[in-house]
Amino acid sequence: MNIRTVSTTPFSDQKPGTSGLRKSVTTFQKPHYLENFVQSIFDSLEDCEGQTIVLGGDGRYYNREAIQVIMKMAAANGIGRILVGKGGIMSTPAASAIIRQYKAYGGIILSASHNPGGPEGDFGVKYNITSGGPAPEKVTEAIFARSKDIDSYKILEADDINLDKLTVTRLGEMSVEVIDPVEPYARLMETLFDFDKIRQLVKNDFKMCIDSMHAVTGPYAQDIFEKRLGASDAVMNGEPLPDFGGGHPDPNLVYAHDLVEIMFSQDAPDFGAASDGDGDRNMILGNNFFVTPSDSLAVLTANATLVPGYKDGLSGVARSMPTSEAVDRVADKLGISCYETPTGWKFFGNLLDADKATLCGEESFGTGSNHVREKDGLWAVLFWLNILAVKGESVEAIVKDHWKTYGRNYYSRHDYEEVDKERATELMERLRGMLGDMAGKKYGNYEVKYADDFSYEDPVDGSVSNKQGIRIGFTDGSRIVFRLSGTGTKGATLRVYIESYEPDASKHNQDTQEALKPLIDLAQEIAQIKEYTQRDEPTVIT
Ligand code: G1P
Ligand code: ZN
Repeated sequence: MNIRTVSTTPFSDQKPGTSGLRKSVTTFQKPHYLENFVQSIFDSLEDCEGQTIVLGGDGRYYNREAIQVIMKMAAANGIGRILVGKGGIMSTPAASAIIRQYKAYGGIILSASHNPGGPEGDFGVKYNITSGGPAPEKVTEAIFARSKDIDSYKILEADDINLDKLTVTRLGEMSVEVIDPVEPYARLMETLFDFDKIRQLVKNDFKMCIDSMHAVTGPYAQDIFEKRLGASDAVMNGEPLPDFGGGHPDPNLVYAHDLVEIMFSQDAPDFGAASDGDGDRNMILGNNFFVTPSDSLAVLTANATLVPGYKDGLSGVARSMPTSEAVDRVADKLGISCYETPTGWKFFGNLLDADKATLCGEESFGTGSNHVREKDGLWAVLFWLNILAVKGESVEAIVKDHWKTYGRNYYSRHDYEEVDKERATELMERLRGMLGDMAGKKYGNYEVKYADDFSYEDPVDGSVSNKQGIRIGFTDGSRIVFRLSGTGTKGATLRVYIESYEPDASKHNQDTQEALKPLIDLAQEIAQIKEYTQRDEPTVIT
């Protein structure tokens, strides 16, 4: 066995963000860049020798090359066994499920999620721990610290492994198993949802359309919706492509335009859904109807006992801070706890492990449960289908009925992408400086109830995360939240989250942007967004 020790010098920018290390492909292609980060992961893991690691990615450009490098480095670092997805493919939720099912030590997921791919696009590397969840900050900080003083890495000199055949081979002392990345995941789904009922629904002329956006869920969606549930031809853009067909694999009303066109047409199907690059995000649509992710979480929570996997009720729910408070109202009624965490799925891990929460969600098209430790796009789609199959009502009717019971939280996020980083930081600093004397202040009809920079103390391990976004809450239940993205790779992205609460059912049919207009203007006035970003309009509105 020929292990090479290669000398290297540190890169200063290998700090993992909201979800792993994300950089442009060209950055990852710099000599030693990928290797330094992967060695920093192995160096930060305790007692990983002889252990099993799961490996796979969303199939984006550079996926296959990176997998070969990581396998050879794993072998050189004494890893005992690698479980790698066929073709190098594994959706993020499937990786989480496989880590748990095989009781692996951890996993390395190659993805930049919803960021565009291709030679000019983005790439990413993320480490997940034994629970199947993203590494907590303690671990990512150790990896970052190591990356700053790394001086060599280890790699096995060997031929590439054939990733396209389900086989068991060896790389040096390490066993390499190329596994089916779909089957274990699909089986898990069958334990949670009533596939018979959904099959029945499909037989009764229920039409659905699932947009995989040429990303990782293609093979998963074909297996589950077409093969197992009998919805032939339900999947569009099902072939995973290294550049996602030139698209932006983010399931929202702007980027999932193929699906949106179909679902907002005259003969629209009953149900539509899309998922992102690595399969953890989802968008839910009805016939000419959009379900906001925040409402989706609230509806799933309210109807969870209709679904076999959750028939005994939920221990609690959790949402990220900027996510609307719609689910809080459901939790209140059910008498269960609702946790408010910082942005990013990693903050849900402890709550799920400790069984304080069963369902979790983020406004950014992320929903999931304790079945894995990642958000899970197709799981959310199946959850909705199961509810639809039981209730026999349309998506729109279910959501409107929900609003009637709980009131409607009008909600929107405005993103200002690729703005000047320094100016965006100044905008945030200026807001921080204003928080102290904001409470009680009046802006037109709005009176500030509280204003703070969100800080979270994890109720399980007591760890504290500060500076997680600026919240301005008003006495009528409205909120404006400002934060800078932790996943962008160019300049800065300012996110502005706007929410208002309307209990009166006769006012539930307004256009969201119109309903929120006074608050949108107020956000502009308070934060002087135009002045700092030099933009008249947000880049993306969701
Ligand atoms: C974004 C979303 C966040 C999500 C993350 C990973 O992070 O806002 O909710 O967990 O992507 O999918 P951000 O760019 O805002 O830091
Ligand atoms: Zn994703």
